[in-house]
Amino acid sequence: MTLTADLSGRVAVVTGASSGIGRHFCSLLSRSGATVVAAARRLERLQELADGEPGIVPQACDVTQADDVARLIETAIVHGGPHVVINAAGFGEATPAAETSIADFQRTLEVDLTATFAVAQAAAAAMPEGGSIINIASILGLSGSWPVTQAAYCAAKGGVVNLTRQLGAEWARDGIRVNAIAPGWFPSEQTDEMFANERSLSWVKRNTPVGRPGRLDELDGALLLLSSDASSYITGQILAVDGGWTAH
Ligand SMILES: NC(=O)c1ccc[n+]([C@@H]2O[C@H](COP(=O)([O-])OP(=O)(O)OC[C@H]3O[C@@H](n4cnc5c(N)ncnc54)[C@H](OP(=O)(O)O)[C@@H]3O)[C@@H](O)[C@H]2O)c1
Repeated sequence: MTLTADLSGRVAVVTGASSGIGRHFCSLLSRSGATVVAAARRLERLQELADGEPGIVPQACDVTQADDVARLIETAIVHGGPHVVINAAGFGEATPAAETSIADFQRTLEVDLTATFAVAQAAAAAMPEGGSIINIASILGLSGSWPVTQAAYCAAKGGVVNLTRQLGAEWARDGIRVNAIAPGWFPSEQTDEMFANERSLSWVKRNTPVGRPGRLDELDGALLLLSSDASSYITGQILAVDGGWTAH
């Protein structure tokens, strides 16, 4: 099923746009009529994406660098936005908690949580007429990940969940809605290795009530709902798209 919404005249910023979920959302938003400022560190990948889709503007950006974030929002302003901001940049590493260095823990928080706040804050300052900010959290922000060992990632995504609630409430009267999507397991660079491992894949299938990982297009309904005026009275919410993972 190909879903679209009417986002013509809107300018969207998508971080984490060079692969996986962020890249998929760039195409979806562009297909829905938005101009999309696509941000990540690997500019050549963004360029390749933009070559195939005229509404996409590539922007090199390390979300942990304040100057890069400022330039990103500046680009969105030049194009007449931002109206919609998707925080999809992120990563996670599986290391037992007892062996995770404080530096590695902080690095995960910096990319997954602090940068989500930094992009949201810079974007909100550039949304005088309101807008929609969508953070990509995770089911691993709603529960732990055992037997997978990724304490830093779980902590960061748990932070994104409650940050979303707080910003949603704090900015509601400015017309800025802040919501999160908490995906279950979806194909991306982050999950490639896991899905290639038969044992890990069958663990995902066994523990997901629907019995399989998600397809990227199964995130489209949630993204279009939260990006468009269809969610004008929804803010501070976490929408799990997880085949029932968090239902049991
Ligand atoms: N796939 C899943 O099953 C799943 C489930 C739940 C949540 N998520 C979340 O979904 C989001 C997207 O992940 P994905 O699964 O699509 O993984 P992915 O394919 O590995 O994509 C991660 C993206 O984040 C970008 N990124 C990482 N560090 C960055 C930085 N410092 N500055 C700018 N961009 C950075 C990467 O771009 P560059 O390397 O080019 O900078 C890449 O575009 C993440 O927040 C992830 O935690 C994924």
